[in-house]
Amino acid sequence: MNIAIDGPAGAGKSTVAQLTAKHLGYTYIDTGAMYRALTLAALHEGVSLSDEEELASLLDRISIGLQQQASGQRVFLNNRDVTEEIRHPDVSRQVSLVAKHPKVREKMMVLQRKLAGQESVVMDGRDIGTFVLPDAEVKVFLTASIEERAMRRYKEMLEKGHDANLADLQLEIQLRDKTDSDREVAPLRCAEDATILDSTGMTIEQVVSRIIELCKNKTQN
Ligand code: CDP
Ligand code: CDP
Repeated sequence: MNIAIDGPAGAGKSTVAQLTAKHLGYTYIDTGAMYRALTLAALHEGVSLSDEEELASLLDRISIGLQQQASGQRVFLNNRDVTEEIRHPDVSRQVSLVAKHPKVREKMMVLQRKLAGQESVVMDGRDIGTFVLPDAEVKVFLTASIEERAMRRYKEMLEKGHDANLADLQLEIQLRDKTDSDREVAPLRCAEDATILDSTGMTIEQVVSRIIELCKNKTQN
């Protein structure tokens, strides 16, 4: 059984997907981290983020690894741990520019489907229920108000000891959601057969329980 969780930035996808996977004993796959790792590699190698061919060929040359550890998921780029680096504001600001190229998405989809073909997964992203795993047994479109999503990111930054500005974060999230929603290939969309879950005012535990309930209903039917 596969679970697809899509939605805009800061909706809580990675947090609840990870906890749901742990609860069910499934593998968690963070597809956003894969796009972020490619963006980081491009920035390091000086590849233009508007050069579709070069980005697609860079993706062929690098290795992206996702590893579950007790402390959470770690992300590796060419066997180097880049878990923190891929969350840097420079990457967050530019990742959507990389993710909009059709050839990059095509190659990412192949990698992601291969990962899901090996075991039951909880996969989160933007196009999982619509394109990557259209046959996923459970599909959730997780969202929350823009104010709450920005506030969640703001608190997260402060907890990690980083400087943050709430208004700037809100603008960055809005801009990224717009780029993700407006792109021609596999845009951010709710799949027709997904359950919309508005997590505004909900705790992480409440959201996870709701998703597990959806999975139970599915296995009972
Ligand atoms: O965690 P956050 O919501 O900030 O973003 P993310 O899940 O790490 O994804 C970063 C970016 O990767 C998104 O804004 C999209 O541009 C891109 N992405 C995508 O296009 N398709 C996916 N399946 C996952 C992420
Ligand atoms: O992956 P996505 O960008 O959708 O969101 P995330 O990185 O999982 O969650 C963003 C922040 O919101 C994290 O610090 C979570 O702990 C927090 N969060 C929350 O406060 N309440 C929820 N119901 C879900 C997430």
